[in-house]
Amino acid sequence: MNPQPLLELLEKHDQRHILAHYQSLKSAQRESFIRGLGPLGLASVLTLYRKFSRPESSIPHSSRIEPAFILPIPKTEEEVQRRKEAQELGESLIRGNEVAVLIVAGGQGTRLGFPGPKGIFPISPIKKKSLFQLFAESVRAICGRYRATLPLLIMTSEENHEETRAFFKSRDFFGLKGEFVHFFRQGMLPTLTPDGKLILKDAENLLAHPDGHGGSLKALYDSGLAGWLKTQGVSELFYCQVDNPLAKIADPAFIGVHRQENAEISTKVVRRRDPEEKVGIYGRVDGKPAIIEYSDFSPEDYRSLDEKGNLRYWAGNIAIHMISLSFVERMNREGFALPYHRALKEVEGLGAGGRSEKMTGLKFETFVFDAIPLAKKSICMEVPREEEFAPVKNQAGPDSPDTARQAMTNLFTRWLIGAGAKVFPGVQVEISPLFALDKNELKEKLGEKEVEVREDTYFG
Ligand code: UTP
Repeated sequence: MNPQPLLELLEKHDQRHILAHYQSLKSAQRESFIRGLGPLGLASVLTLYRKFSRPESSIPHSSRIEPAFILPIPKTEEEVQRRKEAQELGESLIRGNEVAVLIVAGGQGTRLGFPGPKGIFPISPIKKKSLFQLFAESVRAICGRYRATLPLLIMTSEENHEETRAFFKSRDFFGLKGEFVHFFRQGMLPTLTPDGKLILKDAENLLAHPDGHGGSLKALYDSGLAGWLKTQGVSELFYCQVDNPLAKIADPAFIGVHRQENAEISTKVVRRRDPEEKVGIYGRVDGKPAIIEYSDFSPEDYRSLDEKGNLRYWAGNIAIHMISLSFVERMNREGFALPYHRALKEVEGLGAGGRSEKMTGLKFETFVFDAIPLAKKSICMEVPREEEFAPVKNQAGPDSPDTARQAMTNLFTRWLIGAGAKVFPGVQVEISPLFALDKNELKEKLGEKEVEVREDTYFG
């Protein structure tokens, strides 16, 4: 590989410390260094840094932000009936093998600090099943219920790809057919110092990070998987993040709503807990649906109330989407570009003394929800937080394994009580997706049996 163009790029962008480092390497190391640079989006990151080296709002200040229409949790007879129709439509798409499940698991999980891919984290309250196992078992249960095949696609990054694959393989894909479980890598971008300098990870490599969950839309296409899905007759992707054990995998009602509305991308939202909760809001920017980051609101607007005294911007994004495969293909064919967001995070790289040290790194990432304004049609529906959202982000405190386990136990307890069981206070319960995927299935399974849960219990 001719190193010249890359060396010129480094020169042009004032990366002399890297050039000096390169000159100090032996020839075999030089080759390996240059090979490593090839797949990194070096040119785009360096150009990006020039374009916006300072934090700036993701949307122009002159933009008009408004609340958007959101399908409510069905209450009226008409809404209940329409949702029932959506459920049936979703079920028919699943039966027709038109749905695949896409889980993005390429993140670095820095806040959780778990050594290894986040999906391997043992999360379930009793059996301590991993996040990946819960998702795979849900897919298996759905395949069984609808006598269907749902491909499971997992986006990984350079850092966790092999470990993720090996984990699934060693567990025999949790009973799924191996040929329908696919792993694909997202792109990587070099991490910079806050003043725009590339960082060495070690002698032969630059420090790099995954390019954000927005990278999934490109990586799915570039990996050839989008094409493969098409040959399998798949038309819709159920998308979720690896860190939400309550995600209702391939929820038929959501699939149906998405199709009823002919949407290209759809989103689930929950009500913000309170005016201070910082989440992305599903709203409209200059008339187009979009997720708006809380930092793009003025503090007054973010807390503002409507005429009924409710939060005006209540619809918090929980990163669960339906995405039409044709939309992914169209965007890639048209050479779409998602905007980059910048974030300062603690990273580890080689310091000036050549020793590994912690430092502040500047990362550029794209977000999947920025595809929403690019869609011809987008729809959003509200779901109850306690049924569908319990993210595992931090080691302790809010959004941690403890809160997620409690949310799981609480949900399963409600299902059990709804099915006529008696559950003693303080006990932990876990219901395997293979036992029951929802409260109705649980009710059927338990039938007329009298169930008393006096101690921690697993239903599997
Ligand atoms: P987060 O934004 O919470 O990031 O990702 P993270 O990397 O998991 O955790 P921190 O911020 O380092 O603590 C939300 C979801 O998007 C995926 C993650 O795996 C998670 O499912 N993701 C994030 C990717 O797949 N790729 C990325 O580049 C970033």
